[in-house]
Amino acid sequence: MKIAIILGTRPEIIKMSTIIRECEKQIIDYYIIHTGQHYSYEMDRIFFEQLKLPQVKYNIEAGSGKHGEQTGKMLSKIEEILLKDIPEVVLVQGDTNTVLAGALAASKLHIKVGHVESGLRSFDRNMPEEINRIIADHISDYLFAPTEISKQYLLNEGVPEEKIFVTGNTIVDAAYQNLEIANKSANILKELGLSQKKYFVATAHRAENVDDRIRLGGILTGLRQIYKEFDFPIIFSAHPRTVKMIKEFGFEVPEGTVLIEPLGYLEFLQLESKARLILTDSGGVQEESCILKVPCVTLRENTERPETVEVNANLIAGTGEKIIHCVRKMMNSKIEWINPYGNGNASKLILEMIK
Ligand code: UD1
Ligand code: UDP
Repeated sequence: MKIAIILGTRPEIIKMSTIIRECEKQIIDYYIIHTGQHYSYEMDRIFFEQLKLPQVKYNIEAGSGKHGEQTGKMLSKIEEILLKDIPEVVLVQGDTNTVLAGALAASKLHIKVGHVESGLRSFDRNMPEEINRIIADHISDYLFAPTEISKQYLLNEGVPEEKIFVTGNTIVDAAYQNLEIANKSANILKELGLSQKKYFVATAHRAENVDDRIRLGGILTGLRQIYKEFDFPIIFSAHPRTVKMIKEFGFEVPEGTVLIEPLGYLEFLQLESKARLILTDSGGVQEESCILKVPCVTLRENTERPETVEVNANLIAGTGEKIIHCVRKMMNSKIEWINPYGNGNASKLILEMIK
């Protein structure tokens, strides 16, 4: 059996890393195609180094661009590779343009497609990710749903049950495997002069948030209010897209907010795990805060991670007035939820099912 693993962005590298490790351990024949959707050192290479991942076999270097342009470049290059280095299964993860291109290229060549983190739905087609997810799910042969909720969404859309496997999310595998390593090797609290549970962490990068003056401005206003009320520093790990847009809109970073470059996974995991609360519009960060037992406030109008809200680990705040109310509520909530994303063996299960 030969597997082609396609990835291209920060969360895909992290969430596929445990499947890659498992392939190495089980001596499964596999290779990696990197689309190059993310390419800056701190969005790409650093994760290969920290997670000790092997070299990719092919890097398409698609880079940034408009949706059609970026996806199109990936699609034609992935097709070329799959035609000459034919795998039995292609694995894609998540909901990025990389996933859309990878799943489409493989399915047109009648190569089996496995979609890791299948069945997530925000029911908001303004998000490019929602379109990518829906298409990837409907052209995949093996749908690895993290929870029963995502399985149900797939069934509701008419996906045959025999294609769906509930496995948990590989982010749990990644968090469990790396937290211990992080606590031995990283020292991010000291580096940033922070005390445990006396700071907040923030991230924002969603196109519909940071490319919109009012929504990005609303997030910064929310952070200003939070600092005023709680007096905890807010460490904002800024995606390059966010840095670019803060500059473009001419916004000032509010008092109490410390804008930092994106961190490596080990440093970020440690930073998250010792935070008092996390504010984010990221999918992966919503999941990790739930896994690490840190209350979360989501800077969006909806989430495709309803499990986190259901277990009372997360509140949906949007980007305006509601942020401060949600933070107050989460600061007073009990941290007694059970992580709904599995026990850290999703990667093993996924490979078992494929075999
Ligand atoms: C992409 C995904 C998003 C995912 C996110 C993970 C799509 C449609 N979006 O969003 O679902 O949550 O990755 O982080 O697939 N840039 C750099 N260096 C990089 C990469 C990007 O500077 O290595 C800057 C460029 O200015 C680029 C912008 O970020 O134009 C956006 O990059 P892009 O990959 O298009 O989308 P993301 O916002 O990263
Ligand atoms: N992450 C990281 N360093 C940072 C910010 C995030 O390593 O400075 C990790 C985080 O732990 C999570 C993943 O990046 O596993 C989430 O990626 P992102 O927010 O870019 O994308 P999304 O999950 O929204 O698709």
